[in-house]
Amino acid sequence: MSQRRQLSLNLFVYPGGHHEAAWRYKGTDIARLNDIAYYQDLARRAEAATIDSLFFADGPVLADNIRYAARYRVEPITWLAAIGAVTSHIGLIATASTTYNEPYNLARLFASLDHLSHGRAGWNIVTTSQGAASQNFGLAEHPVHAERYEKSREFVEVVTKLWDSWEDDAVIADQASGLFADTDRIHAIDHIGKHFKVKGPLNAPRTPQGRPVYVQAGSSEDGRSFAAQYAEAIFTAHQTLKSAQGFYADIKSRAVALGRRPEHIKVLPGLSPFIGSTQVEADRLEDEFNDLVQPEYSLAQLKRMTGLDLSSYDLDGPFPRHLLDLKGSVATASRFQLILDVVDRENPTIRQLINRLAGARGHFVIAGTPERIADEIQLWFENGAADGFNIMPPWLTGGFDAFADEVVPILRKRGLFRTEYAGTTLRDHYGLPRPESRYSGASLRASA
Ligand SMILES: Cc1cc2nc3c(=O)[nH]c(=O)nc-3n(C[C@H](O)[C@H](O)[C@H](O)COP(=O)(O)O)c2cc1C
Repeated sequence: MSQRRQLSLNLFVYPGGHHEAAWRYKGTDIARLNDIAYYQDLARRAEAATIDSLFFADGPVLADNIRYAARYRVEPITWLAAIGAVTSHIGLIATASTTYNEPYNLARLFASLDHLSHGRAGWNIVTTSQGAASQNFGLAEHPVHAERYEKSREFVEVVTKLWDSWEDDAVIADQASGLFADTDRIHAIDHIGKHFKVKGPLNAPRTPQGRPVYVQAGSSEDGRSFAAQYAEAIFTAHQTLKSAQGFYADIKSRAVALGRRPEHIKVLPGLSPFIGSTQVEADRLEDEFNDLVQPEYSLAQLKRMTGLDLSSYDLDGPFPRHLLDLKGSVATASRFQLILDVVDRENPTIRQLINRLAGARGHFVIAGTPERIADEIQLWFENGAADGFNIMPPWLTGGFDAFADEVVPILRKRGLFRTEYAGTTLRDHYGLPRPESRYSGASLRASA
């Protein structure tokens, strides 16, 4: 009997939580944001709820609106290594840029994370949209979008070859004969490309998952085509079922056209839930957060996403739709389109729009009872919009606890989410195959 399709649920961790005013909320333990014990504890609770993975975002530059929000970064692979040491099942996904790293270094870091966690590492592959990062790396300017994606393809090819460079059975470790490794099964990669020249092999054995899981989070044309080829999980932002369905169908059909199986590419939209025992209570909770919003911060965010400086406008006046122009200075085209859709659909005031985006930077925010949130998850899951979700608690840790304690049991009862882990690796949780090394059997062929 075939197993019923199951949801994949990640916990997307942001310092303090995802709502931009989370750090000001009375329930947020602001003093512990740099305390690894706080994250280890959160990870243990997520593991008790059989969540697929913890996911950390990253970018190699300080946010320009740090004055009003706790939007700084700790390096996620370092952080996840410490979390991996006190957990046994939950996946560990770190974001790392292909624009501001070297493939050999990054291949080592993720291979190490996969080894130390016994097969739980995932790499969220981003090209970095924040242009100011270039100034931290001695570049005259941030490479343009198309160039970043072109480089990222070669980057991923190099990293993949490095992860494949040791065949599974390369380590013999025969103490009696004195033979440690079969060097016919360890391969130089001899990569010479436009951006990288890497001889290889990697200086560590093949990892438990063969390769860490490839995650991707871009939604532009280049981003989708990249995802269809490489990604095994995709993080994406959608405000409506219809928009998510369009994205889902597009990604799956692109993957199929490339000869991939659609179930091997998980589409996971962001979801930020405000949970209350009644609808009124949930709405009140959301209002409480929105009352803490600081317009200086929100307007800077809006400027980053739309190119519009609205600091001299009346916040309670209508949003000036006619000024929206994608050709302006916009970090992410897909997020711009999402905002345009919200404005066209809801005709909000400027304040209503910034409150709408405050919850999770354009991801889907829902306030409701646990049943209503479970209904929405089920609706998207069963109607071609999602294979699961990236859960983005408005604040931590209480916002996650409410989800784990009240929504997860409903999803389990409906047979949509596991009650225990079926395996121990992130590939097991996502139902992904363990890839073979491209060099497997090469030594046999050479000697045949
Ligand atoms: C859930 C989610 C998380 C993301 N996390 C990061 C991140 O941590 N660092 C980053 O540089 N970009 C991040 N992005 C942005 C994308 O990876 C990508 O850089 C951006 O969307 C531009 O790509 P696009 O033009 O193809 O959409 C994230 C996007 C989503 C949807």
